[in-house]
Amino acid sequence: MSIKPMIWDDSVLRMLDQRVLPAKETWLELKTSDEVVNAIKTMAVRGAPAIGVAAAYGMALAAKNGEGREDAGARLTASRPTAVNLFWAIDRIKSLPTWNFDAVLSEARAIEEEDLAMNHAIGRNGADLISEGWNILTVCNTGSLATAGHGTAFGVIHTAHDDGKRIHVYSCETRPRQQGLRLTAWELLREGIPFHSIADGAAASMMRAGKIDCVIAGADRIAANGDSANKIGTYSLAVLAKHHGIPFFIAAPSSTFDLRLASGDLIPIEDRDAAELTHIEGVRVAPEGTQVFNPAFDVTPGDLIDAIITENGVYHRPYAF
Ligand code: MRU
Repeated sequence: MSIKPMIWDDSVLRMLDQRVLPAKETWLELKTSDEVVNAIKTMAVRGAPAIGVAAAYGMALAAKNGEGREDAGARLTASRPTAVNLFWAIDRIKSLPTWNFDAVLSEARAIEEEDLAMNHAIGRNGADLISEGWNILTVCNTGSLATAGHGTAFGVIHTAHDDGKRIHVYSCETRPRQQGLRLTAWELLREGIPFHSIADGAAASMMRAGKIDCVIAGADRIAANGDSANKIGTYSLAVLAKHHGIPFFIAAPSSTFDLRLASGDLIPIEDRDAAELTHIEGVRVAPEGTQVFNPAFDVTPGDLIDAIITENGVYHRPYAF
């Protein structure tokens, strides 16, 4: 059965709690926009397109509960700073001619359905770049859990696999929150796609050993010059790929583009809680007093990206969208 990170069910947003996967498949029942804000902040839902869809349904809950659209929009906007899909979805709802529950719910449903369609188109466009027998390195989770379904970078892998191409995935663990080890591995197993999980630090020597044929990552925000923000560690993979002569691809829908920004230097990078690094499963592993810098994302310069795969086609350097 296809994986969905959230389902609108009558008057409730049911959400698969990604904080406890794969150990538990727990469904949250969100009834207020504040509960959606909290779910995005604490990463019960995460991944750029998925938080956009969640925020859209958060606006629907706000309209249903008689909250003001500006106030709800502001609270949802403040939930996470880097992925532009969040603001794109909230702005789309805010610009509806009327603020009533039926209209907002119908727009939220449209945002969800369009994201799924875009991901299938990204998968189709990207799968043509993947050759039979390739070993593909990916990072974080860009699959159904991170989107309305099918995935972005994962969507390319998904479609290539569905096409019957013999491919194999190396999935980076993705410290500190381990989206690769916990979530991508869970999805790859469910889809029956052959893979190995690797520690983030293993990528360099594996490239040197000729074990990686391409890298595909998602994005949280893409600037006008192709600079792409994605999960922390993505930039390192791009530098490594360049050094080893391996193609490096980004896959993202048009809702991830922020063409108002000339370059990636202008993308706000989220700084997350130190405990994500100092603790594992709630147990302190760093000595008391350790100071931590925990940026959740980094920016890969466009000149390190060989292709940006979107639902509208595949772009190459120099980027002009
Ligand atoms: O902090 P997260 O888990 O929300 O970060 C997610 C990523 O970095 C993904 O690669 C990105 O959102 C693209 S998801 C299709």
